Amino acid sequence: MYSARLHGGPVIDIKILVTGGSGLLGAGISQLELKNHQIFFGYNNHNPELETYLKIDVTDNRQVDEALVRVSPDVVIHAAALTDVDRCEKDQELAYKINVEGTKNIVNASKKSGSSLIFVSTDYVFSGDSGDYRENDETKPINYYGLSKLLAEKEVQATHGEWCIIRPSVIYGSTPAAGKVNFALWIINKLRKREQIRIVTDQWVSPTLNTNLAEMILEIAAKKQIGIFHLAGDSQVSRYDFAIEVAKIFDLEESLIQPVTMREMSWLAKRPINTSLNVGKAKRYLRVKPLEISEALSHLKREMESKTKR
Ligand SMILES: NC(=O)c1ccc[n+]([C@@H]2O[C@H](COP(=O)([O-])OP(=O)(O)OC[C@H]3O[C@@H](n4cnc5c(N)ncnc54)[C@H](OP(=O)(O)O)[C@@H]3O)[C@@H](O)[C@H]2O)c1
Repeated sequence: MYSARLHGGPVIDIKILVTGGSGLLGAGISQLELKNHQIFFGYNNHNPELETYLKIDVTDNRQVDEALVRVSPDVVIHAAALTDVDRCEKDQELAYKINVEGTKNIVNASKKSGSSLIFVSTDYVFSGDSGDYRENDETKPINYYGLSKLLAEKEVQATHGEWCIIRPSVIYGSTPAAGKVNFALWIINKLRKREQIRIVTDQWVSPTLNTNLAEMILEIAAKKQIGIFHLAGDSQVSRYDFAIEVAKIFDLEESLIQPVTMREMSWLAKRPINTSLNVGKAKRYLRVKPLEISEALSHLKREMESKTKR
């Protein structure tokens, strides 16, 4: 059983299954120092070989059903997805299979096992034309990744009675996960090696520290909150300004960061201009608050330092 007091929040006592547990958000959840907890993590290709991890390929109906019967969780946090935006554009069939059909499998199995469902969606369900998006603003994805996640959202809402959809934006954290580094770690690694990096000035997001996101999601799980929540960092910044802030907090050379525009990037899928999220609802409903950028990066720094000391 999962039992912990989150930042002065409620003591919760529930069993949780996280799909995509080997990914960046999964890493954030596993990093929280929770006492007497019982959280199970699903992986697909990256097996951490730890007792609480089990293989769940979400596209395999039988595997999903068996995992849900075996774990019988109170809450499923469905985070597994094909998250590579260009890969989704190139291989739309695969993106549909994992992001939409995989979600259908999770929705059906969690309904059967009586588990409530938290679906982890994305800021990319929005067009990016205006930014500062609220939960009920019009969705209008401009690439296939965003579309597949929106179709999955609709599946969750139509089929599962006890659902919560959460939308983060550009997640980062202190460790590589699912075989890759994240945006913040990549910046830190490059600048530490004194390599120049090119970062776009014309894309605005709400960067989200994985452990902060994890705590907010666990509070939602504990409260069995229903509805849509924008759970992201409490700062709306361009990717370039984020990189500058990273350099400042980590005492790295800012001049190595070269400003470029999206037109100069050789991305396959179109990227929305401004998918920054309004986190007012999360601030009103949750005890764990979305962190503002310098606070979150200071947390990240401490997390990285405590790892090197171990
Ligand atoms: N990263 C971001 O910036 C961001 C921003 C907004 C929203 N999101 C959403 O947040 C969620 C978590 O993202 P993340 O950054 O933690 O992702 P991630 O690090 O890219 O990891 C993806 C996870 O999905 C799993 N997965 C992929 N295909 C699978 C399959 N067929 N069956 C089961 N698991 C499968 C991977 O497992 P293996 O590695 O073991 O194969 C991995 O655990 C996703 O739903 C994503 O859409 C992410």
